Amino acid sequence: MDPADLDHLLMTTRSVRRRLDLERPVEPEVIEDCIRVAVQAPTGLDRESWRFLVVTEPERRRALGALYLRAFEGVVDELQRAGGGDAARLERPGYRILAERLHELPVLILVCAVGEPDPDSLAQQVGFYGSVLPAAWSLMLALRARGLGATWTTLHLREADAAAGLLGIPAGVTQTVLLPVAYTKDARLAPAQRRGPEDVAYWNAWGRGR
Ligand SMILES: Cc1cc2nc3c(=O)[nH]c(=O)nc-3n(C[C@H](O)[C@H](O)[C@H](O)COP(=O)(O)O)c2cc1C
Repeated sequence: MDPADLDHLLMTTRSVRRRLDLERPVEPEVIEDCIRVAVQAPTGLDRESWRFLVVTEPERRRALGALYLRAFEGVVDELQRAGGGDAARLERPGYRILAERLHELPVLILVCAVGEPDPDSLAQQVGFYGSVLPAAWSLMLALRARGLGATWTTLHLREADAAAGLLGIPAGVTQTVLLPVAYTKDARLAPAQRRGPEDVAYWNAWGRGR
């Protein structure tokens, strides 16, 4: 294993909202290969509670796109009324472009978990989401390794009931991230500007440097 290759993959798996090839079909086998990789992620008590709802039918994508866009407009509206910088962030072009074109992406993967988080137990909540979100991230990495771009999105959860109705998701199943997926087209994916370990890592006690 060459750490440099792996580090490159880990450091350049970005949200890809533009420079996507919306005309190129995505082979179902490739999605299955990526899911095969994703399910190697850790899972509490070996329960494998993850489920991957792969949406490819145009009508369902259209409906999912419509509810995503509705959620997006709702958040923008709320943030604008609240003032502050977050509304401006969401008004960066990439967010709106994705919201308006979500249905045009050939594959939408909704990562779900069988069960529901316990609102009264932090440990259970961490265990619950910790048993599915690492797999979702592995899925994004596996997609990227195959030339596919995705974005980690959660806005649709404001419309989770409508999404459940649309996709036949039963009660007792929790929706998590929605990954809109397409092959990338000349996407230049580079490491993001992030704070380094000297700022975000503490040693032996909170706030203490090395
Ligand atoms: C919890 C979470 C929720 C997010 N929800 C959305 C979303 O609904 N729509 C979207 O376009 N991006 C969403 N993002 C993507 C972030 O905007 C993105 O990760 C961030 O801008 C950093 O960019 P990068 O992914 O290219 O590193 C979400 C990311 C996280 C971690």
